[in-house]
Amino acid sequence: MAAFIEAKDVRKTYHVGKIEVQALQGISFSVQKGEFVSVVGPSGSGKSTLFYLLGGLTRADGGSVVLDGDDLAKLSDAERTRMRKRKIGFVFQKFNLLPTLDARSNIMIAREIAGNGNFDAAYFDRITELLGLSKRLAHRPSELSGGEQQRVALARALVNKPAVVLADEPTGNLDSKNSDIVLQMLRRSNQELGQTVLMITHNPEAASFGDRIIHMRDGQIVRPEEDPQWKAH
Ligand SMILES: Nc1ncnc2c1ncn2[C@@H]1O[C@H](COP(=O)(O)OP(=O)(O)OP(=O)(O)O)[C@@H](O)[C@H]1O
Ligand SMILES: [Mg+2]
Repeated sequence: MAAFIEAKDVRKTYHVGKIEVQALQGISFSVQKGEFVSVVGPSGSGKSTLFYLLGGLTRADGGSVVLDGDDLAKLSDAERTRMRKRKIGFVFQKFNLLPTLDARSNIMIAREIAGNGNFDAAYFDRITELLGLSKRLAHRPSELSGGEQQRVALARALVNKPAVVLADEPTGNLDSKNSDIVLQMLRRSNQELGQTVLMITHNPEAASFGDRIIHMRDGQIVRPEEDPQWKAH
């Protein structure tokens, strides 16, 4: 069976004035449907760049990313946007919640944006319950703790039951209790719905929630023993 995510020789260079940053220098890997893969690597190794490319939020300069049979480079902007809304749940490191909306509306906005299918109210209740948010749904982000905001962001990513969940440091700003809630939810969702999960993290303990770990360094995939941070643990 074809892989669910297939990245081949993916390259991305940023230009800032005369400075060139080769953020991704030819990355190839594949992820099977239903796999939970962790991506680790030092700061600046290109993890977030990869996250944005896989999610169709930016374009690669070279190579290809195929997601569920679609070559992202061959889709029009409109097609890529549609694919993203329907198939991908994003969790960003900085939550990205809308400040004027309460938690319920911040979660429901993902439904409205995707605009497809019937709303599964029982599923909404279940994930908000599992994430400990049932009594916080009327709160705006400024009235929530950081951990609660990230749990709202995760509920927003999951509410559409997307085929793939992309998470960039979902536990980066959280204490161990909140991290555990987020990681358990990602794993539960992966196991119960067969969702493909790709999670970026700095934390070896969090990374171990995945079935497999991809190590990055200087815009490339390296073997675990070549990851200096990893050896320390
Ligand atoms: N928009 C941008 N413009 C220019 N350079 C960028 C941009 N985004 C990232 N970079 C550079 O590309 C490299 C990879 O950045 P990236 O954000 O992918 O790293 P990362 O592995 O996610 O790091 P961290 O763990 O700190 O989040 C870095 O050297 C960074 O300075
Ligand atoms: Mg990053």
